[in-house]
Amino acid sequence: MTVFNHTKTQSLKALNTFGFDVVAHHYLPIESPEDLSALFLAKAFENQPYGILGGGSNITFTQDYSGLLLHNRIKGCHSVEENADDVIVEFGSGENWHETVLYTLEKGWGGLENLSLIPGTVGASPIQNIGAYGVEIKDTFHALTAFHIPTGNFHTLTANDCAFDYRDSVFKSEKRGQYFITAVQFRLSKNPAIKTQYGDIQATLDGWGIAEPSIRDISNAVIHIRQSKLPNPAEIGNCGSFFKNPIVDSEIIPALTAQYPDLKTFPAGEGLTKVPAGWLIEKAGWKGFKRNHIGVHDKQALVLVNYGGGTGAEIIELAREIQADILQKFGIQLEMEVNAW
Ligand code: EPU
Repeated sequence: MTVFNHTKTQSLKALNTFGFDVVAHHYLPIESPEDLSALFLAKAFENQPYGILGGGSNITFTQDYSGLLLHNRIKGCHSVEENADDVIVEFGSGENWHETVLYTLEKGWGGLENLSLIPGTVGASPIQNIGAYGVEIKDTFHALTAFHIPTGNFHTLTANDCAFDYRDSVFKSEKRGQYFITAVQFRLSKNPAIKTQYGDIQATLDGWGIAEPSIRDISNAVIHIRQSKLPNPAEIGNCGSFFKNPIVDSEIIPALTAQYPDLKTFPAGEGLTKVPAGWLIEKAGWKGFKRNHIGVHDKQALVLVNYGGGTGAEIIELAREIQADILQKFGIQLEMEVNAW
C-alpha cells in the first residue's frame, strides 16, 4: 500500500485518556482538510480498515490498531458572521474542546460555558452531542463541514442533518464511518442566558456569594463540580461516563420507586423516563470496585477507571459484568457510551 509508506508505528498510550499501552501500526496525523483529499486520491480508504482518532477520550482500545489510524490535528478559528446579538464562529475539528470553551469565554461569547472541562476535541463534540449541566452541543451548534469518505467530497451538514439526540447523532448510526468532520460552527451569544438550574451549579455559586454570575463564573462552577466528582484523566485513566443513562418505558418506574424510594428519575419524552446509570451501578454495589489495575470510580459509579497497567479488554469484561448484573437486578439494559476498538 503506497499510503502505508507514509505512516509510522505510534504508541497510543498518551493519545487515549484510559492510558492503555497499545500501538497503531499505521499512524498518520491529519493537519488539514487537503490531507484528506490527497489520501482519497491515493485510494487510502479502499481495501483497508481505517479509524479516526480525536482526543482519545471516548475510546477503549482492546488491542493494537492495525488499520490506518488518522489522528485529527486540524486547527484554526475564525468568525463567520457577527451582529449585535450573536456570532457564528468556526473551529478546526482537531482543536481541544476545553481550550475552545476558554477562548469563547475570553471573547465574552456565551453558550458553551456549561460544557467546560469536557475532554476531547471540537470534531468529536457533534458525534455524540456532548452534554453536561443542562446543556448539549445541539443548543449552540450551527453547522459543520465534513469530508465524505466514500466520494471524496466535502459536505456541509446542518443541525437537522445531524439528527442530534441524547449522546447520539447520525454519525453514530446511518452515517457511521462515512465522515471525517473537519470544522464545526457554533452560534454564540453576546447577551447570554445563564443556565444554573442543573445539579449543583446554583449551590456552588451561592457558596461563593455570587448573586449575578457571568459566563466565566458558570464555567468556574462547572470546573469545580467536575473536579470534585470526576477523575482527572492525567492522574487516573478514564473516559468519563462509560454508559449512557438508560431511557426506559415509564411503566416500569412505579415498581422501582416502591422498592427504592431514593431513586431520582427524569422525564425523557412521552411515556419515557431517564434513569441515572450511576445510581443503578452504585445500588448494585459496584461503586469503588477494584480488580487488578481497573475498577469503578469511588466518587462517580458511571466512570470506569484504569489505575495504570490495566487493559481495554479488562475494562470491556468489567463493563459486560456490570451490564449483566444491572439487567438481572433491575431489568434495565445499560448501553455503553464509549466506543470499543
Ligand atoms: N448518582 C448516584 N451514584 C453515582 C453517580 C450518580 O446515585 O455514583 C446519581 C446522582 O445522585 C444523581 C444522578 O445519579 O441523582 C445523576 O448524577 P450526575 O448529575 O453526577 O450525572 P450523571 O447522570 O451521572 C451525566 C453525564 C455526564 C455529565 C453529568 C452532568 C451521561 C452518560 N453522563 O452524568 O457526562 O457530566 O451528567 O451533567 O449522560 C460524559 O458523558 O462522559 C459525562 C461525564
